[in-house]
Amino acid sequence: MTVSRAVSSSRSPRSSPPAERPSKNAIAELLTEARERTLLLISGLSDEDLHSQHDPLMSPIIWDVGHIAHFEELWLTQNLDGPIEFSEMPGMYNPFEHPRAERASLTLPTLQEMLKRLSEIRIRVLDCLDKLKWNDENPLLEGGYVYNMVLQHEYQHNETILQTLQLKKGEPYRAPRAITFPRRPISPGGSVRFDGGRVTIGTNDRTTAYDNERPAHELELPAFLIDRNPVTNGRFVDFISDNGYGREELWSPPGRRWLAESRAVAPKYWTRDGDGWITRVMDITRPVDATRPVCHVCYYEAEAFAKWDGKRLPSEFEWEAAASWDASTGVARRFPWGNSNADARIANVDQLAFDTAPVGTYTNVSPIGCYGMVGDVWEWTSSDFNSYPGFESFPYKEYSEEFFGSEYKVLRGGSWATRPGAIRNTFRNWDYPIRRQIFSGFRCAQDA
Ligand code: AVJ
Ligand code: FE
Repeated sequence: MTVSRAVSSSRSPRSSPPAERPSKNAIAELLTEARERTLLLISGLSDEDLHSQHDPLMSPIIWDVGHIAHFEELWLTQNLDGPIEFSEMPGMYNPFEHPRAERASLTLPTLQEMLKRLSEIRIRVLDCLDKLKWNDENPLLEGGYVYNMVLQHEYQHNETILQTLQLKKGEPYRAPRAITFPRRPISPGGSVRFDGGRVTIGTNDRTTAYDNERPAHELELPAFLIDRNPVTNGRFVDFISDNGYGREELWSPPGRRWLAESRAVAPKYWTRDGDGWITRVMDITRPVDATRPVCHVCYYEAEAFAKWDGKRLPSEFEWEAAASWDASTGVARRFPWGNSNADARIANVDQLAFDTAPVGTYTNVSPIGCYGMVGDVWEWTSSDFNSYPGFESFPYKEYSEEFFGSEYKVLRGGSWATRPGAIRNTFRNWDYPIRRQIFSGFRCAQDA
């Protein structure tokens, strides 16, 4: 995502200079672009496809679409004037009033009605933007924050929609593929050493970062080794062939419980084919490709594999340090390759490949030499989703704060289904350790 940014000219009494913010034109273009993408993803789906519950874990896709629009209306019209108490999401699209599994029983509008609603809301949003007076005293507007938040919300629900499309009942989703991978040598394998020491974790950015990424803080990390690449399908097949799913000692107690209940013998979407395995991604079914990162594994599978391999999962702090920490300058990079934004030329992000790429396809490396940290698959870490010291909820508790605790594990780095505006080294995703419908893989680490 490239945005032309205009520097704010208004003065602020804060000690730090006012944050840069995008111009109104840039914001309007980004809103338009985000919506075009959402509509591209659902184009070709029938009303039935949009309204049915493809899996109890997911909403009907039309609900996500309505929820995107109403979230935008809430934050970019109602809450923009800076009330003391922000309003809540109206009934039908409030995720807390209606758990995913029951959203199909709501009377959700038809696609045609929904499209009308989307454009009606968007007209009001653009009108508010047009009339908006930038006011850096309003923290929602600082650095254009609220617009970036709403954009990221749409981007994130795009990824949710893609999870649903992969789970889709009936005819497989016909993916509108528009990215083909460059042919590149496989990256070197093995692991690299992080020397340890004081690193900066998180950020103080208030223009784009979520509350859970703040504040930036220093941590002392012991030295560790981390794999250059995420674990590949090839290695995961080795684990399966070595009876990895059958060896109790590799699985933690909750992992064993999950295994007993799920009776999993392979990653989600894999099926046996003679001696080998086949897998499906959207409308393509093919033999499992040994060179791509394993995808659709839960935390417990990642944990068991790591143990089998004589390794462990990295903590989210180790992951972030391996992705961002430049020891030569003592500064954290925003992305593994530097500070320029992610796009589909530098990493496997932005959805339109509809697939993972062979490891090493993208040759950008982090300062210590890790490949593919951003894009391809979300990477499970050993960390519970907790707040950073000094955390302040902003602008609403239901984004992060309600989820803090040991029920959730942190995933880092984004996947092929992540839009570039919704990923960076400090970005923290979280989910239940049993989840596999997400585009999740992992890489291993070791004590040095
Ligand atoms: C950050 C991906 C866990 O989908 O539940 C969307 C993002 N928050 N709407 C989620 C989110 C509110 C969130 N995750
Ligand atoms: Fe949401």
